[in-house]
Amino acid sequence: MAQRVVKPKTNLGPGFWPVTAFIVVLSAIMVYLVETSPLPIGLIQAGQPADSIDALFRFLGAVAAVLFNIVTIYTVYFGIVFARPKNAPANTIGVQIHDSPVLEFWWTAIPTILVIVLSIYSVKIWADLQNTQGDVLTVEAIGYQFGFQYRYPKLANPVSEFHLPVNTPTTIHVTSRDVIHGFWIPELRMKADMVPGLINTIRVTPTVPGTYRVICSEFCGLAHGAMKGTVIVDSQQDFSAWFNKQAAAQGTTTGGGGGAAGGAAIAIDQGKADAGKTLFGQKCSACHSVGPFEQKQVGPGLGNLFNDSKHPKLVNDKPATPQNVAAIIHDGYQGDLGVMPSAQVNQISNSDIANLVAYLASLSKK
Ligand code: CUA
Repeated sequence: MAQRVVKPKTNLGPGFWPVTAFIVVLSAIMVYLVETSPLPIGLIQAGQPADSIDALFRFLGAVAAVLFNIVTIYTVYFGIVFARPKNAPANTIGVQIHDSPVLEFWWTAIPTILVIVLSIYSVKIWADLQNTQGDVLTVEAIGYQFGFQYRYPKLANPVSEFHLPVNTPTTIHVTSRDVIHGFWIPELRMKADMVPGLINTIRVTPTVPGTYRVICSEFCGLAHGAMKGTVIVDSQQDFSAWFNKQAAAQGTTTGGGGGAAGGAAIAIDQGKADAGKTLFGQKCSACHSVGPFEQKQVGPGLGNLFNDSKHPKLVNDKPATPQNVAAIIHDGYQGDLGVMPSAQVNQISNSDIANLVAYLASLSKK
């Protein structure tokens, strides 16, 4: 059965250009609204990276609005203009067009450029979030069923309150003690998985003092929904006052290589080299060899740690005394040689530290 072909009056239909003008005007209004409207109520920008994340979000929204208008309005328009006329037979079909190099070029080129622009924009923001250079404060956030703990430099024990000083570039190392949790601060638009055995790093600079939410964003067990906390962004003075109160309450700090932890000093002389060797294989050997300093993996080789005349200040710019080695294992390290998580993050107890010190000392005696 031959099909009858109805030829349209023009290729694009009678109202194509007015409809196109309507799309342009509507898109311009929507882009303006997407770029200028306030974000949902209560979701303030409490610091960086909230501003850059929101800028990316608005850019995506503007692009999506324009694409939405083009696709839906033309679809409806062409559907109406090229509908089968009422008096035409039921098997009438429209003009069949094959191969349009110009059209094919543009519907390939435009999405490609769009995806490239979005990729570069996103990667740039992501790279800024990972660049912790010049950060002033480093905090460790540890998830557990069902809550959060925080460790601060020079504070011996983890605390359950999370305070950050305002206008201070801060690195947060995020991990978990048991199962996978999510660490999410909506007001800072910052989120990272808390994975046992893995340390994820995020950076924030809070700029607006206040109390904000910390929410677990991964289903982690029966009380997942109750796993919520707060972060309090303090003025510098309030933060110092809070910090000093915590230090006083704990009775001690680990600053200056003291080696005291949890109110109880590490009994270094009771360490057992055998136990330390086993532990080194489990906890340290991924990053440290037992060869000479130069035999680096992630960190330096530790075979000569206690007797390394070429690197007399290897342990955090201090001599490698058992106390200083215990302190660096306990506190972790951040500096020229890289980043080593604290004993809390590595899940190493005080007696473990003593065993590790005994093992490292035994290596240097050979
Ligand atoms: Cu922890 Cu959900």
